[in-house]
Amino acid sequence: MADASAASHDTYRNDTVPANFFQQCTGNVGRNINNITVLHDRCSKPPPSSTVPFRRDDHFVTRDSLEKTQRICAIPADCAALVGLGGVGKSQIFIEYTYGVRNLSPTKWAFWVHAGTQARFEEGSRRIATATKMDGWNNPKADMLRLVRSWLWEESNGQWVIVVDNTDDSEIFFPLLDRSPASRASNPGQAAELLSDFLPQSSNGSILVTSWSQDMAFRLTDSYASVLGFKQMDEGDALVLLQKKLGFHADRKNATDLLQALDRMPLAITLAAAYIAQRAPCMTVSRCLYEICRSDDAGARLLKNVVGHSRSQTILHLPLPESYL
Ligand SMILES: Nc1ncnc2c1ncn2[C@@H]1O[C@H](COP(=O)(O)OP(=O)(O)O)[C@@H](O)[C@H]1O
Ligand SMILES: [Mg+2]
Repeated sequence: MADASAASHDTYRNDTVPANFFQQCTGNVGRNINNITVLHDRCSKPPPSSTVPFRRDDHFVTRDSLEKTQRICAIPADCAALVGLGGVGKSQIFIEYTYGVRNLSPTKWAFWVHAGTQARFEEGSRRIATATKMDGWNNPKADMLRLVRSWLWEESNGQWVIVVDNTDDSEIFFPLLDRSPASRASNPGQAAELLSDFLPQSSNGSILVTSWSQDMAFRLTDSYASVLGFKQMDEGDALVLLQKKLGFHADRKNATDLLQALDRMPLAITLAAAYIAQRAPCMTVSRCLYEICRSDDAGARLLKNVVGHSRSQTILHLPLPESYL
């Protein structure tokens, strides 16, 4: 849905208009030079885009939490948090959500910040600065966190949604005072502030948080109503996911038994499906189930053997349900 501001962006982005066109229109050289400067500034501001570093998943299986997130975020300035074990599908819901938002409202920005470490949080902020080309974005001495926060506050910059993924380590966001990452930061101006202070709750946008920790999610969103506990898939969704990932129709009884052994966790289902598909026809759903059940550590071996899963390396270091380990 294009709106008036998008149309004006396009006008400003029209580089083919010769500079002297403006002078000819008004006949006032001094003022025209200013006009051209203003236009040039706006020309260099890109239209809203996304910094989400993942492709949309064609195999996405919709879940209740997506709809709940949409409901919560329909109210401007609201936050939502998904809390659950690694591999339960938190990030996937928000990836899908951001693509949905951009499809419905192309004038909205979608940002993604990995918050597993302070360095990654800062890297995510730098990506926001680069995508928006906010003033100071290319100044190596600029305080990126402050720049980004000010930009997010400024209403004229438009609407945004920001996903703060993997806010698992409370030390990063709420450290004991003398150990604050901000107090250790190279920029002394940042010293008094917590990293959480750089997530402004503004009427321009919504903040979406993923975490293992209910407490962290609450502290970042400031509302228990916004914190959604996230568990494994129900049987129907898990079956759909397995069939989509396998690319062929498996016997329902075998598939249900395999899903049971995998605790109906989306990551495990995805990895098991890849394991089967890569080795078919030697490997089947029932053979895979047999391997998992055969020894205590087969589940872990299964997960580690599967290659090419973009986020599995990270996820394997996260707390997984005991049955995989
Ligand atoms: N709703 C879903 N539809 C399809 N695949 C999913 C879904 N949720 C999770 N997955 C699969 O499981 C993997 C792990 O999910 P992810 O969102 O990264 O888990 P978490 O963020 O909770 O650790 C994803 O990479 C994806 O392959
Ligand atoms: Mg995740």
